[in-house]
Amino acid sequence: MSLPPNTAHGRGYLAIPGPSVMPDAVLQAMHRASPNIYAGALIDMMPDLTRDLCRVARTQHDVAIYIGNGHAAWEAALSNTIAPGDRVLVPSCGHFAHGWADMAEGLGAQVDLLEFGKQSPFDVNRIAEALQADTAHEIKAVLAVHVDTSSSIRSDIAAIRKAMDDVNHPALLMADCIASLGCDTFEMDAWGVDVMVTACQKGLMVPAGTSFVFFNDRAGAVRAKMPRVSRYWDWVPRANPDGFWQYFNGTAPTHHLYGLRVALDMIHAEGMEQVWARHRRLARAIWAACDVWASKGGLRMNVADPAHRSTAVTSLRLDAPDGTRLRDWVEDNLGLTLGIGLGMGEGRESDAFFRFGHMGHVNGQMIMGLLGGVETGLCALDIEHGTGALDAAAKVIAGG
Ligand SMILES: Cc1ncc(COP(=O)(O)O)c(C=O)c1O
Repeated sequence: MSLPPNTAHGRGYLAIPGPSVMPDAVLQAMHRASPNIYAGALIDMMPDLTRDLCRVARTQHDVAIYIGNGHAAWEAALSNTIAPGDRVLVPSCGHFAHGWADMAEGLGAQVDLLEFGKQSPFDVNRIAEALQADTAHEIKAVLAVHVDTSSSIRSDIAAIRKAMDDVNHPALLMADCIASLGCDTFEMDAWGVDVMVTACQKGLMVPAGTSFVFFNDRAGAVRAKMPRVSRYWDWVPRANPDGFWQYFNGTAPTHHLYGLRVALDMIHAEGMEQVWARHRRLARAIWAACDVWASKGGLRMNVADPAHRSTAVTSLRLDAPDGTRLRDWVEDNLGLTLGIGLGMGEGRESDAFFRFGHMGHVNGQMIMGLLGGVETGLCALDIEHGTGALDAAAKVIAGG
């Protein structure tokens, strides 16, 4: 008896919201013997590397590199600016705001959490009210997640700066761009962001393991007044090192740097505006398909208003447990891996949620493949959905 064909064989597609698909050129750049860390090419390439990172962040200021993930960047940013007992304000519209708040609490900060649920962005008026009520200026920083990868909500960081300025509050504005950098438009200096944290495994298209803290002079001045900063997290020698080892407080993440060099070359060859426009076009194609599927049955995008959606990740739901059934089916039968729902539901309800990652090294045929795979799964599992989704997506990618 012959088995049915397994259509999962072939090149798989990891469509989770990070780590993202890595370009072959990045992988090839990393495929080499260990370089000398005391002299030579690796050392020589650092000034251009940091400059090109700052061009992605749209800042003229400083960057410190850490061997670590996004959590490390959270801790690094806080360790340089927030002393035990300081207050921080954390507006939340998803799982990752709670994560950063928890990190701050772990370092001894007092956290004021402003909860906005999981389906709409920050209400800037409530942030302004909280800052206005803080007449003693005890709040030292606002920790704002630009794109919360769990809910796929994109919040307006520039509007927070305006609210802070309107009430003359001196707190630092810190932004988490771990899911958004290199995907959604972000302008560190123009938006008045003092500290920005990100990591390399999403829009920057490099394997997980390095993260970055960008900071301006206001944040540098706060750092200078800190009673104590751990040697390891201190951003001062990392951003302005006397010797190569100080960039990393020890051995360099050698192969990450080669991969990152190529990824930055790819980003800047395309152009930041073009990178953002590509993400927008592909995201619009996904949303067009989702709107059609949602015209019948239970599929829904988490964020109703396109103006508040990330262009790098889309959170969705079906009726539980169909989200998990769909993920399992497309992985087992098509080699397509979708993201799990993160922090969106408890118990059985968590099986309703799933996510599409569309960040970094993605193009039109990959997105059509993703959508075709999902449509195939919906059909195979008899999950009710509207028809014509791929047509709608194709029209957007074709220029609609
Ligand atoms: C918005 C956001 N912040 C923070 C993190 C934590 O980063 P990491 O998992 O690399 O520690 C993530 C991870 O996905 C994220 O998406």
